Amino acid sequence: MSESENSKELFAVVTGASQGLGKAFSSELAKRKINLILVSLPNQNLAELSAEIGEEYKVKTHYYETDLTVNENVLKLSEWINRNFSVNLLINNAGMGGSKRFIDADVNYINNIMQLNVVATSILSHQLLPNLMSQSKSYILNVSSMAAFSPIGYKTVYPASKSFVHSFSRGLYEELKDTNVFVSVVNPGAMKTNDEITSRIEKQGFFGKLTLLEPEKVAKYCITQLFNRDTVIMVNSFSWLMLHLLPIWIRLPLMTRAIKREVINC
Ligand SMILES: NC(=O)c1ccc[n+]([C@@H]2O[C@H](COP(=O)([O-])OP(=O)(O)OC[C@H]3O[C@@H](n4cnc5c(N)ncnc54)[C@H](OP(=O)(O)O)[C@@H]3O)[C@@H](O)[C@H]2O)c1
Repeated sequence: MSESENSKELFAVVTGASQGLGKAFSSELAKRKINLILVSLPNQNLAELSAEIGEEYKVKTHYYETDLTVNENVLKLSEWINRNFSVNLLINNAGMGGSKRFIDADVNYINNIMQLNVVATSILSHQLLPNLMSQSKSYILNVSSMAAFSPIGYKTVYPASKSFVHSFSRGLYEELKDTNVFVSVVNPGAMKTNDEITSRIEKQGFFGKLTLLEPEKVAKYCITQLFNRDTVIMVNSFSWLMLHLLPIWIRLPLMTRAIKREVINC
């Protein structure tokens, strides 16, 4: 890092920072003395969280509340960041999914998953790229999912959106590998991020419970691997191996049956 950059204040942007994995990422970065810009939906606990993290870890924190399913909001957020901050790390963590019969899903549910997981991730990366490229060393970490590796009935749109995130990240990595911006993707399996997700996954039975992960451990591992320049961060090697060993004609009905149990039991 050059001397002028040492004196420049650099920030990490974390989307979906108010809870779950995004909150764990924020604390993990702050522990490493990295300044933060926290982003999530309006009227949650972001102001308090931002102040708490800043005080506890003695880092600079800012926050921005917005609905990232609206393209215009993503552009306004990017403009605010680019106008006010130098950014050397972007974590596209905000994401949503769920399990339901496709016929029961309303149009907003389908649209919001794609807008948040696919469109916001792409546009934010695109809009912050010149800023990231202006620093001597920068990182983008996109949060995909183990679901990226298999289609699943009763989830349908979510795994498809996470396949996009995986493919997008790998392509961007290759395109930028000779620049100062390093791109990585993580594909976590189920995590105990909130009560609703935990109880949903526990309904999937033994296998679901067996593979549940703590978000704090996932965040710590991901940040370590990101700075070690790991291009595809794998947090559940066992689930990954199972998914790759099982042929699609076994995997697809098996996983669909597990999710169906969750949908029918709720
Ligand atoms: N949990 C799992 O088992 C699991 C497994 C694999 C991958 N993942 C992925 O990991 C990431 C984090 O998941 P999580 O379980 O930690 O999620 P979570 O606990 O539901 O938290 C989601 C975060 O995203 C924010 N968010 C949601 N909709 C938003 C919107 N429209 N605009 C802006 N922010 C929005 C939420 O903000 P508010 O708090 O303000 O609502 C929250 O901060 C996601 O990409 C998810 O797909 C999760």
